[in-house]
Amino acid sequence: MTRKVAIIGVGHVGATVAHNLILNGRVDDLTLIDINEDKVKADELDFRDAMANLDYHTKLHVNDYSQLKDCEVIISAIGDIEIQKIKLDRFAEVAFTSTQVKIVAQQIKDSGFNGVLIDISNPCDIQTMIYQKITGLPATQVIGTGTLLDSARMQRAVGEALNIDPRGVHGYNLGEHGNSQFTAWSTVNVLGQPIEELAADNDDIDLDAIDHEARIGGYHVMLGKHYTNYAIAAATTRLINAVLSDANSQLPVSNYRPEFDCYLSYPAIVGRRGVVQPVDLPLTEEEQTKLAQSAAFIKGRYDAIMR
Ligand code: LAC
Repeated sequence: MTRKVAIIGVGHVGATVAHNLILNGRVDDLTLIDINEDKVKADELDFRDAMANLDYHTKLHVNDYSQLKDCEVIISAIGDIEIQKIKLDRFAEVAFTSTQVKIVAQQIKDSGFNGVLIDISNPCDIQTMIYQKITGLPATQVIGTGTLLDSARMQRAVGEALNIDPRGVHGYNLGEHGNSQFTAWSTVNVLGQPIEELAADNDDIDLDAIDHEARIGGYHVMLGKHYTNYAIAAATTRLINAVLSDANSQLPVSNYRPEFDCYLSYPAIVGRRGVVQPVDLPLTEEEQTKLAQSAAFIKGRYDAIMR
């Protein structure tokens, strides 16, 4: 089966995802779509110039919506860097991004696409819900990168506190890919122990500080270069790989949770058809309350936008 993917929105994030996929030979056929025709055509030519020095070959298309029908995965990386530069708030660009997402969602629906739609566009949970509503795809086939990225920031912060590889830190940030998210410490274990036990004996582990760092980590990057791209592209590439290889990976992605009737980040089993199995965590009462509060925030903002 040809591994065929499309990226809609080829700014810093979309271009970095494309670079990851092409450099590592993760796809056979890649379509790049962006409203800035000159830029996306330049990216395509630049990638074609890279092919002679790569171990893999990727067939490229530019701004061709007819390619979407038989894609296995479509990535939405639409965003407005000018707004992002001004505000450290993912909701700041919601008016611009929602308008674009509604147009693109209808184009995806009209194309006959029936694969997995992965949204990066912010505010992530809201845009993912808009994509699902307008495309009419099953909720399991529409997911957002969500707190897969924020969990990685938590893993980085815990790894730094303990001087260990962040891949040795296991656990999740849950809820909104935004300010109402939280680190579910009951899910976090490291060095074979629940982190709350380690923290009880180790003053170097400040769980509140780490939780804060995971939530605002992206803003440090934004202040320095006005966008983020490498970490979100790594998370997205991992998610694409889970779909294309039918890996059935347990990942904290933004997915529809019926108990809240909204999208938020919570672990799910991700394979070729998107969310193939929900997961239920034994959260503490405090964590369940935080999750419900995050869900209420997301749903309230979504309802306001779609009214
Ligand atoms: C970030 C963007 C992707 O958190 O929302 O880096």
